[in-house]
Amino acid sequence: MVKVLKIAITGKGGSGKTTIAAHLAKIYATEGLNVLAVDSDPNLNLSEFFGYEGIPPISKMKGLANERSRLPSRFIRMKPYVKDIVDRYSRRVSRNLSLLVSGVVEKVGSGCLCPENALLRALFQEIILKRSETVIMDVGTSLEIMNQCTLKGINAVLAITEPNYGSVSVTRKLLSYSNQLGIKTYVVANKTRSRDDFQYISQKFDIFHTIPYSEEVQRSSMSRKPFVDNGKFYKSMSRLCEKLGRD
Ligand SMILES: Nc1ncnc2c1ncn2[C@@H]1O[C@H](COP(=O)(O)OP(=O)(O)OP(=O)(O)O)[C@@H](O)[C@H]1O
Ligand SMILES: [Mg+2]
Repeated sequence: MVKVLKIAITGKGGSGKTTIAAHLAKIYATEGLNVLAVDSDPNLNLSEFFGYEGIPPISKMKGLANERSRLPSRFIRMKPYVKDIVDRYSRRVSRNLSLLVSGVVEKVGSGCLCPENALLRALFQEIILKRSETVIMDVGTSLEIMNQCTLKGINAVLAITEPNYGSVSVTRKLLSYSNQLGIKTYVVANKTRSRDDFQYISQKFDIFHTIPYSEEVQRSSMSRKPFVDNGKFYKSMSRLCEKLGRD
């Protein structure tokens, strides 16, 4: 697999977005791809997954946002300079895996034209449309942090879905939004324990991939670097990497 992938991971709170994003990033990096893992969830737990705590997100760097996006008048520069940001602010997790904590602008979708928002949108555009590494983005429950043009540069949005009503409802909304924009969105069923769990989701959506519930994942989530590198969860994650690389 040599393709450069740009993948955004979304779904209801607690569905497994961060766990899946972190494992995808790690597996692709282990396979030799250059990977940028981007933490764009307001909870910022992807960075914790890689053992980091308290990295200030780009979205909170008011000084940087003002310097890049504010014009001398009260206007906002819509295309601020962002080319250097990934290299300057990302952390190296391993030889070919880096982590960028972008954060997310509050009141997404409010049409806010604040300097932080302009900076973040330009940054996402740079990461998705211009840079040449594989990108795995944990975007939380909303895709609206990216503009339509950036979203179209994404190879796949993964809608992580657990076998419960709330998770299915969120996925339904996500699919309706991404279908309107013509973005390829794949439903990934996570934490299935039985055929009934699988059917509960498959009756509602076409499932691209299924990840079984794993006690090991649950247990390892209590440790500081909660990676699992064998067993049924790992096997299923490797298979997901393979399918995404092919699609
Ligand atoms: N396949 C799985 N089997 C068992 N437990 C899982 C599985 N996937 C995720 N989990 C567990 O579910 C919990 C939530 O996972 P995670 O933090 O990845 O979800 P999230 O969608 O990122 O949540 P949030 O919206 O709070 O950021 C964690 O305890 C994690 O270990
Ligand atoms: Mg998370």
